[in-house]
Amino acid sequence: MEITNTISALQMLLMPLQMAKSKVALVPTMGALHKGHLSLIKIAQQHADVVVCSIFVNPTQFTDPKDLEKYPRPLEHDIKMLQEAGCNFVFMPTVKEMYPSFPTPENWYIDLGAAEFLLEGEFRKGHYQGVTQIVKKLFDAVGPDVAFFGQKDFQQVLMIKRMVKHFNMPVEIVSCPIIREDDGLAMSSRNIHLSKTDREHSLILSRALKYVADNFNKSDLTDLLLKAKAMINEMPGVELDYLTIAEGETLLPIANKQVKNPIALVAAKVGETRLIDNMLLN
Ligand code: PAJ
Repeated sequence: MEITNTISALQMLLMPLQMAKSKVALVPTMGALHKGHLSLIKIAQQHADVVVCSIFVNPTQFTDPKDLEKYPRPLEHDIKMLQEAGCNFVFMPTVKEMYPSFPTPENWYIDLGAAEFLLEGEFRKGHYQGVTQIVKKLFDAVGPDVAFFGQKDFQQVLMIKRMVKHFNMPVEIVSCPIIREDDGLAMSSRNIHLSKTDREHSLILSRALKYVADNFNKSDLTDLLLKAKAMINEMPGVELDYLTIAEGETLLPIANKQVKNPIALVAAKVGETRLIDNMLLN
């Protein structure tokens, strides 16, 4: 496994492979890797000849400087995990490598459609501009044929697909299933911030989503949402940001069940940690 910190070094390594028409996959991450990230690497290996994993805690997508500061960075452990997973290249650039004029912000704004401002976009202003900005830079650096993202960040995948369309980028975007702990909690790099009690309380999020999924066909939509929200609101230490049943393209709340891709999405603060999760409803 080769580890590089600069775009030029990475490109020197990838160029002969790309000339030989090897299919290159990219798995972008911010590190603090867990089995959810590793599942993306595994799926990438099934689709491509070469897998590049990037580890970069992207400052432009954080709305809260404290969140950026306390983001876990266990780099040695991450590298060991990627090595064991059989990843071919790790790209770990510095902030200056990706944003040469940092801390002066670069101009970046693209139209991601109205869904940018809903759900996570409402609670984390500018988040998807930051995400698409770095993913564009990573795509430009690596030139992947295909890139893998987790359905865990459902809205993120949608926004990245829009960015790719906006620039006509020749890269396929693959959305991969959510990996959960045995008790249902969606794996996340932020879970390590949960205290023992928070960890127990956090289970209400996946339980409420499962309740919605199990009852979607049998219950009235309004009742279903009311009951699922009540489940979360009754849990001490959990502060609900949103729970919605939305259409999977527009992310607008659905008015009837006959829509194409219904999905339940939730975000809540559990103790001091903000968690998100979702479940497809068909
Ligand atoms: P990060 O949170 O590190 O996640 C990297 C990738 O892993 C994302 O595509 C995310 O959806 C996926 N992932 C996280 N938890 C998962 C789980 N439990 N199951 C399956 N996949 C999971 O998302 C980001 O980083 C950043 O926004 C990034 C795209 C790298 C841009 O900075």
